[in-house]
Amino acid sequence: MAKCVLVSGGAGFIGSHVTVELIEAGYDVVVADNMSNCDMTCFEGVQKIIGRKLPFEKVDFCDAVATDKLFSDYKIDAVIHFAAFKAVGESVEKPVRYYKNNLGSFLNVLEAASAHGCHNVLFSSSATVYGEPDKVPVTEETPRKPATSPYGATKQMCEDILNDVVKATAGTEGEIRGILLRYFNPIGAHPSALIGELPRGVPNNLVPFITQTAIGKRACLSIFGDDYPTPDGTCQRDYIDIVDLAQAHVYAVRRMLDGKMEKGCEVYNIGTGRPVSVLELVNAFEKVNGLKLNYKFAPRRAGDVTAIWADPSLANKVLGWTAKRSVEDTLASAWAWEKHIAGK
Ligand code: WQD
Repeated sequence: MAKCVLVSGGAGFIGSHVTVELIEAGYDVVVADNMSNCDMTCFEGVQKIIGRKLPFEKVDFCDAVATDKLFSDYKIDAVIHFAAFKAVGESVEKPVRYYKNNLGSFLNVLEAASAHGCHNVLFSSSATVYGEPDKVPVTEETPRKPATSPYGATKQMCEDILNDVVKATAGTEGEIRGILLRYFNPIGAHPSALIGELPRGVPNNLVPFITQTAIGKRACLSIFGDDYPTPDGTCQRDYIDIVDLAQAHVYAVRRMLDGKMEKGCEVYNIGTGRPVSVLELVNAFEKVNGLKLNYKFAPRRAGDVTAIWADPSLANKVLGWTAKRSVEDTLASAWAWEKHIAGK
């Protein structure tokens, strides 16, 4: 019988792509989301891609009773936890909201998983835990830096919570094994253009801002800073294709479910290992899509790190996963998705 994976926050950007890859790998999936930051577009897109209906549960993971009920209604073998608020700037303005939601929901998931014999928990962490690194690329051993926002703090705290729970439950009936995936900068959309990123309001992230500018929803892209100590003066990041990133989850879940883990809690960087500057990304977008983007240089954005990219060799070696898609293909997929949602 196929193993069942619960995807919390499964109607969102990353969760919907992960759902597709899990189904294609032969897993059963239950999608649960409180729909607080998305609509049904991506969930419907997922069902179109896989050609069938999927179980969907409207659940707020901050509700402990509802979370527990979900684990009694389904026999869940592994849970991938995405359900969280994710806007860095908003987290600075509303820290209580962020701590309550991001920590509360994860604690409820851990408690229910442990109580119902679901031993495998994968947490969606972030490269943000490294802060401004002293050395790039960063490995999983690179020390974490103090968080620069409540959002980043919740990622660090959830990592610590999972580690503590793994230690405390080892050898017990409610044993939890954990995998932390630290994502670099996920971009792009599914090649079908049926699912992708749907930011509410003005996008904070670079690629949605680029595609919205190209389609005419925004007048001009501001490139934040041209005087960084990098080859072209703009910040460098590790932009990872969303489908590549989603596939990393399948490798990680398989490792857990096949009993291959060597430690109770394992950590992997999920990135390409390739630094790309803001300007290089803009140029690549223009070239691959054959258009000109209206952009200007603007002052640095507070809180931005100069350069960060992954050393993904641990995930390559241990999980057997590698990022495959070029940044050009990914930017073409992001543009196809923007045109799809604009009905063009
Ligand atoms: C990338 C680069 C900007 C917008 C954030 C979170 C992180 C993770 C992913 C999410 C930077 C520049 C951006 C614009 C620009 N979490 N930029 N003009 O900041 O690396 O990471 O998103 O849930 O935790 O911090 O990504 O896409 O915002 O920025 O010049 O309009 O693009 O300065 O150098 P970031 P980003």
